[in-house]
Amino acid sequence: MSNYHIKQFEEYFQVYRKSVRNPEQFWEEIAEEHFTWKKRWSNVLSYDFKKAEFKWFEDAKLNITENCIDRHLHTRGDKTALLFEPNNPNDEAEHITYKQLHERVCKFANVLKDKGIKKGDVVCIYLPMIPELAISVLACARIGAIHSVIFAGFSSTAVSSRVNDCNAKMVITSDGSYRGSKTIDLKGIVDEALNDTPGIESVLVVNRINSGVYMKEDRDVWIQPLLDDASAVCNAEIMDAEDPLFILYTSGSTGKPKGMVHTIGGYMVYTAYTFKNVFQYREDDIYWCTADIGWITGHSYIVYGPLANGATSVMFEGVPSYPDYGRFWDIVEKHKISQFYTAPTAIRALAKQGAEFVEKYDLSSLKVLGSVGEPINEEAWHWYDENVGKKKSPIVDTWWQTETGGIMITPIPFSTPTKPTYATLPFIGVQPALMDESGKELKGNQVEGRLCIKFPWPSMARTIWGNHQRYKDTYFSAYDNMYFTGDGALRDEVGYYRITGRVDDVIIVSGHNLGTAPIEDAINEHPAVSESAIVGFPHDVKGNALYGYVTLKDVGESRNHDNLRMEINQLITDRIGPIAKLDKIQFTEALPKTRSGKIMRRILRKIAANEVDQLGDTSTLLNPEVVQSIIDNVK
Ligand code: PRX
Repeated sequence: MSNYHIKQFEEYFQVYRKSVRNPEQFWEEIAEEHFTWKKRWSNVLSYDFKKAEFKWFEDAKLNITENCIDRHLHTRGDKTALLFEPNNPNDEAEHITYKQLHERVCKFANVLKDKGIKKGDVVCIYLPMIPELAISVLACARIGAIHSVIFAGFSSTAVSSRVNDCNAKMVITSDGSYRGSKTIDLKGIVDEALNDTPGIESVLVVNRINSGVYMKEDRDVWIQPLLDDASAVCNAEIMDAEDPLFILYTSGSTGKPKGMVHTIGGYMVYTAYTFKNVFQYREDDIYWCTADIGWITGHSYIVYGPLANGATSVMFEGVPSYPDYGRFWDIVEKHKISQFYTAPTAIRALAKQGAEFVEKYDLSSLKVLGSVGEPINEEAWHWYDENVGKKKSPIVDTWWQTETGGIMITPIPFSTPTKPTYATLPFIGVQPALMDESGKELKGNQVEGRLCIKFPWPSMARTIWGNHQRYKDTYFSAYDNMYFTGDGALRDEVGYYRITGRVDDVIIVSGHNLGTAPIEDAINEHPAVSESAIVGFPHDVKGNALYGYVTLKDVGESRNHDNLRMEINQLITDRIGPIAKLDKIQFTEALPKTRSGKIMRRILRKIAANEVDQLGDTSTLLNPEVVQSIIDNVK
């Protein structure tokens, strides 16, 4: 039996039991046998839930890029590491071998060094899904700089707040990006963002669309000439296992986005190990995750997890609808994809277009299908299973979070019997618990509660950049001695988990986490707006869509409400990005509030979901009459 590669259901249980009976010994074995370390750890794990301090492989030394690149050079030097599929299907795909990746990462790393970037410095990366995105991430890791990737759909305000929050010294961007039939002026967004970011010393610009952008003197440089001149030798910086590898921002229910910090050793071990097992990756497989590297899924399962296993990982620049809705399947056929990992929102959008787009293509190379980012509804699950997997490729519904670093609850394909809408069983080493609101653990099966994790796992985020107190308060204060996920879940009669959704004010729209507070802040900037409240409501493609209740300063506001709606959505686009735009905006005289002045979102959610018969008791509100007026207004 191999603990590293689990192939049978029985084996899963055996390895799982081992992993929870003696976690330190278990992870030590995995770490020792499958990775390259410069120096061994003095201690596998130390932790303190009260202080929210966790250390894995303490004192060990390594460089993650040696594990992801160098150690494959002898055995897999000519194997494709990254397979780049451009936006335009008529442009040729690019196969970057491990040897070439090594050279390109080393050159890039030398350019970073020449520009003054040192170990511990933070570099923000704002790039489309082009090879330079993965390469710059790895180049940072090579020299011990901390990368902070910002999804290239975020607005300039969102970019500048992240750049300032993490004190970045450099931004790496491109002149623009292709997105279906459109081009996007990324450099313009960065220029605007950097008006008020005193820490930024330089901006490296990749030429992607040949758009001849403005280059600020003494700050902006085109990267290609520097790469051409750079040496292809760059020794990997020796890092501590607990040094930060990256910062990645995620929305919170209140306040500004949280810069989740992941450290090197544990993250590497866990993402590699989950990748191998959850996708049952074998040497000649071609693996494709459709996520963007701007999100955690791309960090862990396009870059680090696959490369640590010497895999071939596909990077796709485009969108599923361009040039038509068959694009995903065209790519699956063209590159003979073995594992395909995507989000339910994409599946729903494609299912809506009918099966003819899928049927045109040969999908027989597919072995495993994955789903991530939000609950997958039953209809989408079956569509995926029947039309894409032809009922022979198991679907792995993988539950996890930016904070968890790697997949936490998931079937193991060909082992765990799947069940639609269920993420099924905890991955090796993961100890979930369901808690009730009073802080009691719900034991046994057929229970529903708040999902927590009772024991540390190697890839957990270690802190929030610059705000450890917030990390402690958000994740470790709701329940003693456990990590609180913010999600609700149920455990069925056989012990399978089904994630029921967020229990806080984070709303997942098309698989993207959106906090209500920053959206409300953006709306409230509008001069005519007095107050606002955002809730989610069910949407057949996005999973959830956003519903905004807005009160105006001047009740008799004479301006056209449709224009106001457009202005509000423009503000949201400017402050956060188009992903946070509202689907519905209802103007109302007041918002329902408790006697202590808190907005009763529960009621607003019911109204938005058209479940007004389930409002419950509203008589304790400060202003119960408002509820009826909102309902009448909807009609
Ligand atoms: O609510 C859960 C949902 O996505 C949240 C995490 O979002 P993010 O940090 O952006 O990471 C997404 C990619 C890992 C979770 O708290 N979520 C993620 N996967 C699933 C899910 N909900 C249900 N089923 C899933 N498979």
